[in-house]
Amino acid sequence: MNVNVGIIGTGWFAGTHAEILSRMDGVKVRAVCGSGMEKAERFAADWPDATAFASVEEMLDRIPLDAVYICVPPMAHGKIERLLIERGIPFFVEKPLATDLEVPSQILAELQRKPVITSVGYHFRYMESTTKAISLLKTMKTGSALGFWMGDMPKVPWWRKQEGSGGQFIEQTTHLVDLLRYTLGEIREVYAAYANRVMHEAEDGVTVADVGTVTLKLASGAIASISNTCILPMTEKIGLHIYTDRGVLQLGMNSLTEIGKDRTEEWRNTANPVVAENEAFIRAVRTGDASGILSPYEDAFKTQQVTVAALHSAALGQPVPL
Ligand SMILES: NC(=O)c1ccc[n+]([C@@H]2O[C@H](COP(=O)([O-])OP(=O)(O)OC[C@H]3O[C@@H](n4cnc5c(N)ncnc54)[C@H](O)[C@@H]3O)[C@@H](O)[C@H]2O)c1
Repeated sequence: MNVNVGIIGTGWFAGTHAEILSRMDGVKVRAVCGSGMEKAERFAADWPDATAFASVEEMLDRIPLDAVYICVPPMAHGKIERLLIERGIPFFVEKPLATDLEVPSQILAELQRKPVITSVGYHFRYMESTTKAISLLKTMKTGSALGFWMGDMPKVPWWRKQEGSGGQFIEQTTHLVDLLRYTLGEIREVYAAYANRVMHEAEDGVTVADVGTVTLKLASGAIASISNTCILPMTEKIGLHIYTDRGVLQLGMNSLTEIGKDRTEEWRNTANPVVAENEAFIRAVRTGDASGILSPYEDAFKTQQVTVAALHSAALGQPVPL
């Protein structure tokens, strides 16, 4: 079956998905919707089968689509998902689901009333190193985990505004919270401390915290601590280190390193996990079998619950149960 895809959003990651989709057999990017016609036309010019739109409704009325990719900033979710659910169109949505829990709660309720195939862009789940870590963990007793997202501030204008992105923990570090849930299980409580140290003075209009540390208690009894910062001039480290009775598993963006008493072993990813998540979604659209999708909307919602609870905890100065 040929799959006709529409893409909403014309930025960096919309381009990444369009590029991957255009290399897949029988998949065509048929429509592109931007926040303005000029941007949509510029983006559509790269994809010969694509028509440009500035309205999602018009795009859906005019082009019969088998699936839609939602690649808009966190504050722009809600109406788009509702329109797709109403029309029964499967969608892939980039993380995070929103800046808060209100919009995802409404979308989840609508999906429960009228299910469609969904996939959320938590591509760390599709890394070969993650699969390897999960298999190694079966023979280990986990004590704790440390997560790090230590980097610079993305320069897109919406990212620096609390109401635009939700802040670094909701927007970026969500990948690590999701990886923690995927490898070690559900989270029961969070306790966060955030601060604005540098970026609100260095750049205009910055309202997001630029440093933060979150303590997480897991249902298993294990504990974790995830820190993030966007004050650096470069990316220093992104990863999740898991401490067990057999040694340490260090999951990074490209590899897994196992450190034992007398040996260290490394497994490097050979496949691109963003390609793998696209293949899983398109396969589900083609066959109706969604079992290969590792992050459907209802699961990603649980990650959003954790990251939003951390924001509340930082504001309250108290632990927040989940
Ligand atoms: N999975 C990943 O690793 C990964 C990587 C990068 C970005 N992302 C996510 O993808 C999303 C987009 O990020 P980006 O880096 O592409 O941002 P970007 O700023 O480059 O692009 C966002 C695009 O959305 C458009 N837009 C905004 N509101 C819209 C609306 N209502 N309708 C249509 N278009 C609208 C903007 O005009 C812009 O073209 C974010 O949620 C981000 O977290 C995920």
